[in-house]
Amino acid sequence: MRIIKKKTGGILSAFVILLITLTAANPLPKRNLQVLPEDISDAQLDSIMKQYNKALGVSCNFCHTKRSDYPDSLDYASDKDPMKTTARKMMRMTIEINQKNFLTDENKRPHELNEVTCYTCHRGEAWIESGR
Ligand code: HEC
Ligand code: HEC
Repeated sequence: MRIIKKKTGGILSAFVILLITLTAANPLPKRNLQVLPEDISDAQLDSIMKQYNKALGVSCNFCHTKRSDYPDSLDYASDKDPMKTTARKMMRMTIEINQKNFLTDENKRPHELNEVTCYTCHRGEAWIESGR
């Protein structure tokens, strides 16, 4: 009985150590959000990104580069494409325009943060070609 218990304990702790090692080596992919809130839901994020596509008349690859290990997919967290950096500037600018000019009410209504959108200026077109 004793021997079995010892063995089980040994196997168990080996398993726990293996689990800890695997978790440390493969942490959950962290998002790389600098303007949007880190805890935004996938659905909200997706909806905002689709708005960008419409506002600029582009596809997701206008701002997101291909994954090097899996070129059929885009590496959304990567900042390799300077267009993504430009888009971040535009996001900050749009937020500022709305906060300064439309958020006058103390009882802030969320839509007032969205009076001026990407579409207000871009009207479904991007001015610069992405080169892709
Ligand atoms: C006009 C440029 C632009 C377009 C077009 C665009 N994105 Fe993005 N995307 C961004 C920017 C900028 C960020 C980072 C936002 C931030 O820092 O808060 C981002 C972030 C993301 C993220 C989060 C990545 C992470 O850090 O984990 C995902 C997922 C994503 N985009 C998916 C898409 C999809 C899907 C499409 C097409 C439907 C798309 N994007 C189209 C600019 C764009
Ligand atoms: C107040 C008007 C205005 C708003 C609002 C605006 N943009 Fe722009 N955006 C511009 C102008 C003007 C340029 C061209 C700048 C240049 O040529 O140097 C531009 C350029 C860009 C570019 C570079 C590619 C191109 O079309 O020239 C991206 C990407 C971009 N905007 C994304 C966005 C996104 C995403 C939003 C919403 C979060 C947004 N913009 C909101 C005016 C605006």
